[in-house]
Amino acid sequence: MKAARLDRYGPPEVMHIDEKPAPKPGHGEIRVAVHASSVTSGDARIRRADPPLVRLFFGLFRPKYDVLGYEFAGTVESLGPETSRFKVGDRVFGATGFRFGATAEFLVIKENATVSLMPESWSFTQAAAIPFGATTARYFLEDKGHIQESDRVLIHGASGAVGVAAIQIARMHGTAVDGLCGPKHLELIQSLGAERVLDYSRETPGNGAYDLIFDAAGKLKASTAKAWLRSGGRFVSVQKGLAKDRASDYPDILAWMESGKLQPVIDQIYGLDDIAEAHRKVDGGHKTGAVVIQIRG
Ligand SMILES: NC(=O)c1ccc[n+]([C@@H]2O[C@H](COP(=O)([O-])OP(=O)(O)OC[C@H]3O[C@@H](n4cnc5c(N)ncnc54)[C@H](OP(=O)(O)O)[C@@H]3O)[C@@H](O)[C@H]2O)c1
Repeated sequence: MKAARLDRYGPPEVMHIDEKPAPKPGHGEIRVAVHASSVTSGDARIRRADPPLVRLFFGLFRPKYDVLGYEFAGTVESLGPETSRFKVGDRVFGATGFRFGATAEFLVIKENATVSLMPESWSFTQAAAIPFGATTARYFLEDKGHIQESDRVLIHGASGAVGVAAIQIARMHGTAVDGLCGPKHLELIQSLGAERVLDYSRETPGNGAYDLIFDAAGKLKASTAKAWLRSGGRFVSVQKGLAKDRASDYPDILAWMESGKLQPVIDQIYGLDDIAEAHRKVDGGHKTGAVVIQIRG
C-alpha cells in the first residue's frame, strides 16, 4: 500500500511517500480503507521531536512508528476473526491512538476502540477533521474544567483544531462562550457560536470576567489567565495533562455531528503526495481547524 512515511525526526521534508505491506487485521480488529486523514499539531510535534521528551515515548534515535496520522475516515475493507460490530463497506471514522498509521491506504484498528460509524451525510474529509479536536476539547472542558451551564467561558486559541471544537462543545453545554484568536479568524469564531470574539493582537478581556478559561493553544500564561478569572474561576490548558483516547466519547461525538451541533472546520485539503507541504502548513502554527489529507477519491 501507499503510505506517508518518516525514517527520522526532522523538518517537513523527512516525510515521503513509499510502499509498505498493508497491515492484516488480527482478532477483534477491522481493516479500514482510509479515504481521509489529517496532519494534526500532534503529528507535527512527533515529526519534529518537539518537545525532546517525544523521543522517550516514540523512539530515542528514530521514530518507532514510521507512518503518522491520528484521525481517519474510510470504509471497513475486511474483518479479522471474532469481530461483530461492523460489516464490510461500513463508513467509519475515528482515531488510531498513539500507534498512528492513518496517512496510508489501509489501517487496522480494534473494532471496540476509538472508531465509530460516521454520519451518512458527511464526507470522509469532513469526518476526518473531527476526532483530534473534539476529544481533546471535551477532555479539557469537561474532565479538567468541570464546565457548567452557568459558566462564562473563554477559549484562548479558538481557531485551531482544538479551539474550534472547544467553542462548539462549550455552546452545547449552554454556556456563554467568548473566543480569543488572531485577526483573520474573528468571523469564523463568531459563526461557531461565540458571543464575543477578541483579537489577541490588540484586545484583552476584562479582568475578573470568566468562570472558566481554556487555553486551547497552550500560549497563555497562568498569571494572565488568573487576572481574567472571577474569584474561584478555573484555568485549564492543553499544556497541563494529556487528553484521553476513549471509545466512550464517540456516541456523543457522532450525535453532535448528526445534529449539526459540531461542524468540521477545514483549513485545506492536501493529497497524500503533498504530505510534506501539509506538515509545513501545520508547523506555521496558525492553521484554521484541521489540515486534511485526502487519500482516496
Ligand atoms: N495535552 C493534550 O492532550 C493535547 C492534545 C491536542 C493538542 N495539544 C496541543 O494543543 C495545542 C493546540 O493544538 P491544535 O491542534 O488546536 O493546534 P493548531 O490547530 O495548530 O492551532 C493553533 C492555534 O493557536 C493559535 N495561536 C498561535 N499563536 C498564538 C498566540 N501567540 N496566541 C494565541 N493563539 C495563538 C492560532 O490561532 P491564530 O491563527 O488565530 O493566531 C492557531 O489557530 C498544540 O500545542 C498541541 O500540541 C495538546
